[in-house]
Amino acid sequence: MIPQPFIHDLLDRVDIVDAIDRHIPLKKAGANFVACCPFHNEKTPSFTVSQTKQFFHCFGCGSHGNAITFLMNYNGLSFVEAVHELAAYVGMQVPSQLGAETSSANFAASKNVGDHGYQADVSKQELVSTLDTVTQYYRQQLKTSEKAIEYLKQRGLSGKTAAHFGIGYAPSGWNNLEAIFSSYESDDTRGLLLKAGLIVTSEDGKQYDRFRNRIMFPILGLKGQIIGFGGRVLDQGEPKYLNSPETPLFEKGREIYNFFSARRAIREANSVVVVEGYMDVIALWQHGIENVVATLGTATTAFHLQKLLRQTDHIVFCFDGDKAGRKAAWRALENGLPLISDGKYLSFLFLPEGDDPDSYVRQCGKTAFEHQLSQAIPLSEFLFKELCAGNNLQTDEGRAKLVHDAKPLLRQVKASVLSFMLINRLAELSGMDQNELHDILQIKRIAKSPVKKKLSRRQPSSPYRWIILALLHDPSYVEKLDRNLLVSLDGNNPDIVALRALVEFLREHTHLIENKSSTSLLTDLHDSPNIALLESIESETLEWGDTIDIEAEFVGALEKLKQMQRKKRMTELHSRPLCELSEQEKQELQRLAML
Ligand code: GTP
Ligand code: MN
Repeated sequence: MIPQPFIHDLLDRVDIVDAIDRHIPLKKAGANFVACCPFHNEKTPSFTVSQTKQFFHCFGCGSHGNAITFLMNYNGLSFVEAVHELAAYVGMQVPSQLGAETSSANFAASKNVGDHGYQADVSKQELVSTLDTVTQYYRQQLKTSEKAIEYLKQRGLSGKTAAHFGIGYAPSGWNNLEAIFSSYESDDTRGLLLKAGLIVTSEDGKQYDRFRNRIMFPILGLKGQIIGFGGRVLDQGEPKYLNSPETPLFEKGREIYNFFSARRAIREANSVVVVEGYMDVIALWQHGIENVVATLGTATTAFHLQKLLRQTDHIVFCFDGDKAGRKAAWRALENGLPLISDGKYLSFLFLPEGDDPDSYVRQCGKTAFEHQLSQAIPLSEFLFKELCAGNNLQTDEGRAKLVHDAKPLLRQVKASVLSFMLINRLAELSGMDQNELHDILQIKRIAKSPVKKKLSRRQPSSPYRWIILALLHDPSYVEKLDRNLLVSLDGNNPDIVALRALVEFLREHTHLIENKSSTSLLTDLHDSPNIALLESIESETLEWGDTIDIEAEFVGALEKLKQMQRKKRMTELHSRPLCELSEQEKQELQRLAML
C-alpha cells in the first residue's frame, strides 16, 4: 500500500500537462490543453487536460482521471507501477521502497521524513536547500561589497531590480563557502556542495569555490526553487559568464531563465520575448517589459520551444543583429518549424547592430523597444529572406536551389494553413506552380477538414451538482453545509446519492478539507460507486474558463435547496387536517409560510 498523502504530494509536484505531453503532444485551447484522445479513435480533439485542476477528460469517450490514471491507461501500468514512474520523473522516492538505499545514503535523512512517514528524494531536496543557503549568502555579500554594487549601478540596475532577481555577489577568495557551512569538513556536506556544483575539486584533490568574484544570478526551476546560478565577472575576465554545471537539478538545454517569474506576464501578454542574456531579461524587466526569458547561453532547443508554446501562442526571438544573432535565430527557426501549429507564431526581431536588448532599452526606453517588438518579422519572412540570401533568383539554377533548400524545412511544418502559405510564397519566388511544388516537396495538400463539433457550454442542471462542484473545487465548503438539509433530501436521484456520499467521505477524511492541494478530490474517491457521475460533473468545469463564481453558485444552490425543503415540508403539513397538527407543527407551518 502506498500512503495516500504520498500520492497527494506526488500529484502536487507533477504537472499533468507535462506528464501527458511526454506521450501525446498537447495543444493549448483556451484555459485547457487538448489532443486527439488516445483512448478512442477520433479526428478532432476532444481529449481535454486542465492544468489548473490537474485532470484530463475526454468528451468523446468519457475517460477521465489524473496523471496516475493517465499512465495506467496509456501505458497499461498498474497503479503502483504508474506511481513509481511518475515519482521517478519528479525525483521522489516511493515509500514502500524505503530501506537499504536511504539508510546508507550520505545525506542526513531524519529531517526529510515528514509526518506522512515517507521520504521524498533526499538528495534533491538537500540540493535545493543548499543552493538556497548559498543564495542568501551571495545576496548578503552584495550588500557589503562596494565593488559589486558599483558594478551593478554602472550597468543601470536599481536595488529593487537586484532584489527581484535575487542577484548576489560571490566574493573573491577560494574557500568562502567553508565559513557558511559549519559542517563543511564532513564528507556529507562536501558531497552536497560538489553535487550542487558550488565547489570543484582540483587535480591535486583540493576543493575550492566554483564562483569567485562574480555577480550571481540565481536560476529558478519550474516550481520556483533555485536550481543553479549564472555568474558574471565584474571586469574583463574569462569566461565572462560561468554557469552551474549540469546537476541533478539543472539541465541547461531544458531550463529557461526567468520562466518561472515571467509566467504570469507571458500569459497576460499572450506572448513571450526570448533574448540571449541574463542582463537583457533584467534590464527589460526594470523598464516594465516583463514577459521576457532567456536561454542559458545555449541555442534555443525544441524542448525550450515546447515549454514556451504551451504557455503562449506567440514567441518573439530578440537576438543581436550580428552574424551570431542571425545564426541563433536560424537555429530557433529550425527547431520551431515542426512545433508550430496554426494559431501559434514565431517572429524575429534583430536590433540595430551593436545593440542588445539591455543596451537598447536603456538608451531608447520602453516605448522604443515595444515599437521594435511590433516590427518583428514573421517566421515566414525570415525563412525566405535567409533562403534567398546569396541566391540569384533571376536564374533557373538560383530558383532551383531555393526550392531544394526549402524542401527539408517546409516538409517539417505540420500546421496545415501555415504550410499552405509557405508553399504559396515559395511558388511566387520560384515561379513554380503550387501543385507542382506539392509534388516536388511531397507535401500533402490540406484535406478539407470536417466541420468541428461545437462543444456545448453545459452547465450543472441541478443544485446538487453545483454543490458537488463547489466541494470538488474546495472541500472546505462542506463546513457550510447543513447536515439536516442533506438528510431531508429524497433518496434516489443519483445526484443526491453522489452528493451525500461525497459529503460523508469528506466528513470521514477531514484532513482533505484543509488540504489546499490542487489535486482533484476524485483521486481519493476512485473506488466510489458514484465515481462516473462525479467525473462527469467535474468535467463540466472544463468548458467554463474563469468566469464562474463558485462561491455565488454555491450560495445560490444552498438557497434553492432550502426552498425545496421548505416547500416539501409545507406540503407535508398541509396534506393533514389542521386539527390534527400539534401546536408546534402549527407554529412551524406559520413560520414556513412567512419565509
Ligand atoms: P553582458 O556583457 O553582461 O551584457 O552580457 P550579455 O547578457 O549581453 O551576454 P552576451 O550577449 O555576451 O551573452 C549572452 C548569454 O550567453 C549570457 O547571458 C550567458 O548566458 C551566455 N554567455 C555569454 N558569455 C558566456 C561565457 O563566456 N560562457 C558561458 N557559459 N556562457 C556565456
Ligand atoms: Mn549585454
